[in-house]
Amino acid sequence: MIHAGSGGVGTFAIQLAKLMGAYVATTASDRGYALVQSLGADRIINYRKENFEEMLSGYDAVYDTIGGEVLEKSFQVLKPNGKIVSISGLPNARFGREANLGWLKTTLLSIVSHRITTLEKKNQARYHFLFMKPSGLQLERIKGYLEDGLIKPVIDKVYDFKDVGQAFQYLEGGSAKGKVIVKMK
Ligand SMILES: NC(=O)c1ccc[n+]([C@@H]2O[C@H](COP(=O)([O-])OP(=O)(O)OC[C@H]3O[C@@H](n4cnc5c(N)ncnc54)[C@H](OP(=O)(O)O)[C@@H]3O)[C@@H](O)[C@H]2O)c1
Repeated sequence: MIHAGSGGVGTFAIQLAKLMGAYVATTASDRGYALVQSLGADRIINYRKENFEEMLSGYDAVYDTIGGEVLEKSFQVLKPNGKIVSISGLPNARFGREANLGWLKTTLLSIVSHRITTLEKKNQARYHFLFMKPSGLQLERIKGYLEDGLIKPVIDKVYDFKDVGQAFQYLEGGSAKGKVIVKMK
């Protein structure tokens, strides 16, 4: 399951998951429905009208781009030993250890992510916070997929560099459909 399939991250995540052979459920509003359908989403939940946690169950994995309550409810969608990867939730102690943040920061993360750790245990799930790192290897693979037409970038708006503030303002509005581009020249 991929949250916010119509966003900048979601539009790529759906396509990459389909390429990996996954059955993909996603959340979108009326405005994003046709887009996520065109990207290959198998099940679309209108998050403004329906509760995804009541409609989906037995999923292997959730990719969370929203955090907060949406992240917490996502545990209900998983099968036992399922996995949640979040780019918008709280980093936990596992993240602290993997990122070598040291004892103090890892302990602090363990305290602030206590609710998530409780949900992990209750639902027999694994929670990972992902902080993206640039990877030449991964970008090379994605470039290949793009060149072979296996995935396509979804571009919402393009701004000149001088209008970068407007680009951020638009993004902060939270309703982008695909990527927002800033041209360097
Ligand atoms: N950890 C990291 O390294 C990392 C990296 C990149 C991004 N992020 C974070 O990941 C998040 C997503 O990034 P993004 O670029 O994909 O955002 P985005 O493009 O701004 O997402 C906007 C989209 O999300 C949809 N949406 C909003 N609320 C939703 C909800 N409750 N359920 C389902 N869809 C919803 C909107 O649909 P409607 O307008 O139709 O409602 C819109 O199409 C951001 O918070 C960003 O900061 C983290």
